Amino acid sequence: MKLWGGRFTKETNELVNNFNASISFDQKFYRHDIIGSIAHAKMLGAKGIISEEECKQIQEGLEGILSDIENRQLTITDEYEDIHTFMEATLIQRIGNAGKKLHTGRSRNDQVALDMRLYIRDEVKNVDEEIKHLMNCILRIMKEHVETYMPGFTHLQKAQPVTIAHHFGAYYEMFLRDRSRLFDIYKRMNYCPLGSGALAGTTYPLDRTMTAKLLNFEGPMLNSMDGVSDRDYVIEFLSALATMMVHLSRFSEEICIWNCNEYRFIELDDAYSTGSSIMPQKKNPDIAELVRGKTGRVYGALISILTTMKGIPLAYNKDMQEDKELTFDAIDTVKGCIKLFAGMIDTMKFNSKRMEDSAKKGFINATDAADYLVKKNVPFRDAHSYVGQLVLKCIEKDIALDELSLDEYKKVCPVFEDDIYDAISLKTCIEKRLTTGAPGPEMMRQVIQHYEELDAHFLT
Ligand code: ARG
Repeated sequence: MKLWGGRFTKETNELVNNFNASISFDQKFYRHDIIGSIAHAKMLGAKGIISEEECKQIQEGLEGILSDIENRQLTITDEYEDIHTFMEATLIQRIGNAGKKLHTGRSRNDQVALDMRLYIRDEVKNVDEEIKHLMNCILRIMKEHVETYMPGFTHLQKAQPVTIAHHFGAYYEMFLRDRSRLFDIYKRMNYCPLGSGALAGTTYPLDRTMTAKLLNFEGPMLNSMDGVSDRDYVIEFLSALATMMVHLSRFSEEICIWNCNEYRFIELDDAYSTGSSIMPQKKNPDIAELVRGKTGRVYGALISILTTMKGIPLAYNKDMQEDKELTFDAIDTVKGCIKLFAGMIDTMKFNSKRMEDSAKKGFINATDAADYLVKKNVPFRDAHSYVGQLVLKCIEKDIALDELSLDEYKKVCPVFEDDIYDAISLKTCIEKRLTTGAPGPEMMRQVIQHYEELDAHFLT
């Protein structure tokens, strides 16, 4: 069924019909389309553009369609071009002439702009809800592991000691910023395009403030050409999702490393790992690998919308129909990834002993040995060189800095005394790291408390 057959004398080519149609994917909008149409009808009624009775019939008709779709009494079929056509045709079938008045002062251009905005607005909240849950899992782990020591790495080489709480806290910070990005996007996008018409508004006395209010927007968009053409919020949302995937993918990579046979820092739960069809010993971190892999898909959606939008002159052009499929896929992918990732880390076990043993090896206290000399008035550059010589000695003997005799220390620099051993013990190295943001347990507990008090100003 077509809404625009009047000026045509020939049937549309069948391939054109298929190529042009969006109902296979924009049927996801059915609820938003109905909510938007009800707001539009109420406003038309209030302004006397349609009668009170027609307004009531339209509203009841649309509510009936909504409940029938949700109860599976009504199926959205692909004989229609898009969800908007399906809704209007179904309404007219059900209520007759009043249904033909719904589209007064409206175009599919502002209708689809509204539906997409309502849909994305909901999904911004849904994604926020998922990250919030993930962050609660991270915070639980942080609270339990303020004093579980592990090596911190740079260049994938042991660098300085940290704790599990500190390492996970880094991701907590990233996800916190992700949430604040969603919050910003929500605020910026929360203006209503309905009433923009095809591009140039309309001569009917529409009350755009009323429809904006009915649909919980801050107000109407103030330029009707922009109203039908803006997809910035889709770009912003996909960019925020892509950034989230950067974070999830880095975290996944670490899970894979920590899980590998050489590290064995963690044990993944059986429910969140998979086996091999040929190698019976295998227990693979497929969830982490898939999250890492699906990152590419989400980047793809971002690049796709950026490229689609870059050459479109004002106002609406059909290119913009391409804003949907990859965006929907990216949103579902990200929500799935966050949920699975949260389940995986929430059930995994830490091999704290191995992590601590690993932190004891690899000279991660070398900076602290240099700092020991600095506190005794040796200039840092000299201290760095003395400790470098000591490390070389240890490598030759295959021992740790703590195992070197005081004599050997003194041979390199006479300033060393017996208290060097306490100064470079793992416990001291961690506990004394108390600068803001450092892993020292006392500082970490303050940061955790700050996180627990923080939440209120976000979306969910
Ligand atoms: N399916 C279209 C889209 O997704 C709806 C708007 C159609 N408007 C038009 N003038 N053909 O963008």
